[in-house]
Amino acid sequence: MIKQESVQKVIDTAQIEEVVDEFVHLKKAGVNYKGNCPFHNEKTPSFVVSPAKGIFKCFGCGRGGNSVQFMMEHEKLSFIEAIRWLAAKYNIELEETERTEEELAKRDERETLFIVNEFAKSFFSGSLFETEEGRSIGVSYFKERGYNESTIKKFGLGYAVKDRTALYQALKDGQYNLETAAKLGLIKEERDFFNARVMFSIHNLSGKVIGFGGRTLSSDKKIPKYINSTESEIYNKRKTLYGLYHAKNEIRKRDECILVEGYTDVITLNQGGIENVVAASGTSLTEDQVRLIKRYSPNIKVLFDGDSAGIKAALRGMDMILAQDMNVKLVLLPEGEDPDSFLKKQGTDAFRSFIEENAKDFILFKTELLMEETANDPIQKSIAVKSIIESISKIPDTLRRSLYIKQYATLLELDESILHRESNELIRSEQKKQRFNTYKEERYEEPPFPSEQGGQSQYKPIKERDYNSDEHQEKALIRVLVNFADKPLNSETETTVLDFIIENVSDILDKFDNEYYAKMVRLSREEKEKGGIVNEQFFINHMDTSIAKLAVDLSSTQYSYANWSGKGLELQTQKPPDENHELDCEQVVMRLRERKLRKLVKETRNYISEMDRSDGKQFLLYLKAFNKLEQEHKELLRELGTVVI
Ligand code: UTP
Ligand code: MN
Repeated sequence: MIKQESVQKVIDTAQIEEVVDEFVHLKKAGVNYKGNCPFHNEKTPSFVVSPAKGIFKCFGCGRGGNSVQFMMEHEKLSFIEAIRWLAAKYNIELEETERTEEELAKRDERETLFIVNEFAKSFFSGSLFETEEGRSIGVSYFKERGYNESTIKKFGLGYAVKDRTALYQALKDGQYNLETAAKLGLIKEERDFFNARVMFSIHNLSGKVIGFGGRTLSSDKKIPKYINSTESEIYNKRKTLYGLYHAKNEIRKRDECILVEGYTDVITLNQGGIENVVAASGTSLTEDQVRLIKRYSPNIKVLFDGDSAGIKAALRGMDMILAQDMNVKLVLLPEGEDPDSFLKKQGTDAFRSFIEENAKDFILFKTELLMEETANDPIQKSIAVKSIIESISKIPDTLRRSLYIKQYATLLELDESILHRESNELIRSEQKKQRFNTYKEERYEEPPFPSEQGGQSQYKPIKERDYNSDEHQEKALIRVLVNFADKPLNSETETTVLDFIIENVSDILDKFDNEYYAKMVRLSREEKEKGGIVNEQFFINHMDTSIAKLAVDLSSTQYSYANWSGKGLELQTQKPPDENHELDCEQVVMRLRERKLRKLVKETRNYISEMDRSDGKQFLLYLKAFNKLEQEHKELLRELGTVVI
């Protein structure tokens, strides 16, 4: 592991404009730089780099962050990879913490797993091209499928011979670790797991072989057509997408991922020049797999066989994609065709235009399918409508969701308000579930902070307003904290905004609805106690990437548009916060405090009313505390200019 000090040094040293400049052509624009956003297509630049703040921000697509986040996002690096890249750029030596004996052993074991798999891959490839059996059976099968030699090489295809000890012997002769081979599911009790099958290598994101799939050539129905390696420390089916290693660049370039059923579809499409293709082989699509795709593009097109019986079951999986805020389109292939056969018949160009023309928004697809079945039966129809609304309510983005509701109200011949009500209902119950889960997570699982992975986002933005929650007020407070922590509260005092916040919020931190916001106040307080400087940079350059990200989001609000772009997007209702932060800050802090006190008063009142009064002393103590609390609350209300009832 890299030492924390080293990581922080890299973050502090990196100059955002120099880092971005390696990938984006930047032009000076006042104190900032501008360029075309590398994350979305645009002709007029709305991508701004601010050396003073140390951040980039795109006003087109909304992406923003510091140098580390730029590298993570642009180059699809992990946190630690981004740190290493930046360290190399700035010649910073990264100090490593000593690896323990155990960690070393673990790393060696993983290495061995990859080495044995790599050997097996070459062995299967050798058996394909260099044995009589391989050539006459394997090669001719692949030829028949239309795969050329470079495709066979590219995808690490091979052949497992009929002899059930061939690989076992080869491993033994080569003095490979047999236990490892067994862990990988390659051998079992001195026999090969795969035999008389054509072999497909399965790669991880960096192109290493993590497992295999094998297809039998026998027509015996009792033999399973495809079998797969067992899962191992390096192969998790639910987190693997077949073909992603070969597809990732193309997915990013085309800003779209095509999802198909299996190995042969991926390979045929690749050979036909359609390379943004992956398959969730061996499992139904999982959330982890969707998240993998989302790293490269939010757009996904699912290709279904024309006769797929499982289409309805598959539709359920699509809701999950929607919930990840992805755009899902479906393409139904003609009767009897799968992507593999259809491409071969049609050729690449016709195939491409077919999927372009026939891609249908998933919800529309579902609606048509369900409505077709219900005919005019009102009960059937209401079940179908519910299911459609369920899908719509999965869309996290409020605006997008409303647009769908508008469109579908017309389509389903229903009142828009009914759809809204139903969908809100579903969202609320989902949120309740989630809040409970978040609470559980936060309570029992310390976030990986700051860790080798960088803090993975613990911060969950609120999507929908819950009137009982104070998260919005808490967020307003954090916005003030991030932007003005080191500024004096007003022109007559040396008390800083941070001092003021610490003084007025410390005792209610435990009552925060968003634990993450509370954490940011605590961190600031600790830093101040240590004698450190707490300002915008403290947050933006924080090692926990989710804190840094939140800070960037909060620091570059719409107010900054005018300053940043020079286009003078007029500010409508409010002065920029730099000018009115005195007022802002006190209001924000005291309003939040008032809300918390109000709840506390209520809680305490309830508690006291149900209290066992036999211990008079205890009871009096509580009553006194309650009176004080109520007193403070009333005063606060008066100060805020709210009528006390
Ligand atoms: P197919 O049944 O079309 O396989 O399934 P195929 O090899 O193309 O066979 P034929 O020549 O059309 O009869 C398509 C994909 O589904 C996955 C495989 O990845 C395959 O490429 N699949 C299929 C499995 O994983 N397991 C199976 O049992 C069947
Ligand atoms: Mn097929």
